Amino acid sequence: MGVRFRGWGIALPDRIVTNDELSLTLDTSDEWITERTGIRERRVGGTAVSLGVIAGRNAIEDAGLVVGDIDFIVVATTTPDRLCPASAPMIAHELGLSCPAMDVNAACSGFMYAVRTAQGLLETGNRRILVVGTENLSRWVDWSDRNMAVLLGDGAGAAVLEYDEERNDILSFVLGADGSAADLLTAEHGGYFQMDGKEIFRRAVRVVVDSAEQAMKNAQVSPDDISLVIPHQANIRIIKAATQRLEIPMERTVVTLDRYGNTSSSSIPLAFFDARENGRIKEGECALMTGFGAGMTWASAVVRWSR
Ligand code: ACO
Repeated sequence: MGVRFRGWGIALPDRIVTNDELSLTLDTSDEWITERTGIRERRVGGTAVSLGVIAGRNAIEDAGLVVGDIDFIVVATTTPDRLCPASAPMIAHELGLSCPAMDVNAACSGFMYAVRTAQGLLETGNRRILVVGTENLSRWVDWSDRNMAVLLGDGAGAAVLEYDEERNDILSFVLGADGSAADLLTAEHGGYFQMDGKEIFRRAVRVVVDSAEQAMKNAQVSPDDISLVIPHQANIRIIKAATQRLEIPMERTVVTLDRYGNTSSSSIPLAFFDARENGRIKEGECALMTGFGAGMTWASAVVRWSR
């Protein structure tokens, strides 16, 4: 018995903010942002709920299901529209669902933590769970702070996970957290995101590599067996450093940060969707999902692609 990914959906605001546009008001340049981060533009707009509803609806449709087939909803978000209530019941309501619904906050590892939570729920009686990663990071950015403003973007990605008697798409999972690093990236009530970018960079490479190696070991696969790496999209230099250490070439790594920036818990489902749309993964092949975020938290999983 196991868990199967049955459908995927995304939502992106229409508004595109380019590096050149940011350079009009900030002491920065397209050249600096592109070279140091890989980001060229990002989407800005929507709310955690409105983007989550669209991504969720698209995922249910992609799965060939109707909303009534979903019996639980788990929403990963770092930027809920309100502190209380959680976003999940509101997303569920707008989708026409009255099933159990809850939020998970593990920052940029949030989608992975939500999938892990859903896996446990499916193994203990639920049938189909909608997992949504949705972020409205732009609302918590001080647009006069070039340290953060160049990095973040808005968007949402969702997946429908289904209990399956015969197949299991999730071959391994490694999650971790280290609260001693909590002050490296914060947003206080009523404040904005602030971070120690250099230290996050250093630790990110380490936790991604360690957790990814452990996930591959637990799944009994080697880097050669990984058809595609789906990394959290924070900085192209973090992705390159980590995949180089994992000995997986960039040709087998998905990059969407050039178009979307860092969308926190939405970045892994957005990247997976992009890879699928571009025919970069075939049924039966293995993908490595790996991410890190504020907390610090991190997560790696080896999954098999079933559709
Ligand atoms: N535009 C132009 N110049 C800049 C900018 C900018 N936006 N930011 C910094 N600089 C300058 C600095 O002042 C410095 O100038 P100096 O050499 O004259 O002192 C120079 O560029 C280099 O600055 P560094 O901080 O050393 O740049 P670095 O190469 O470390 O890149 C960055 C900074 C992009 C933030 C990088 O450290 C990084 O990506 N870290 C990880 C961030 C991350 O992943 N955060 C988590 C995600 S957010 C979330 O979870 C919600």
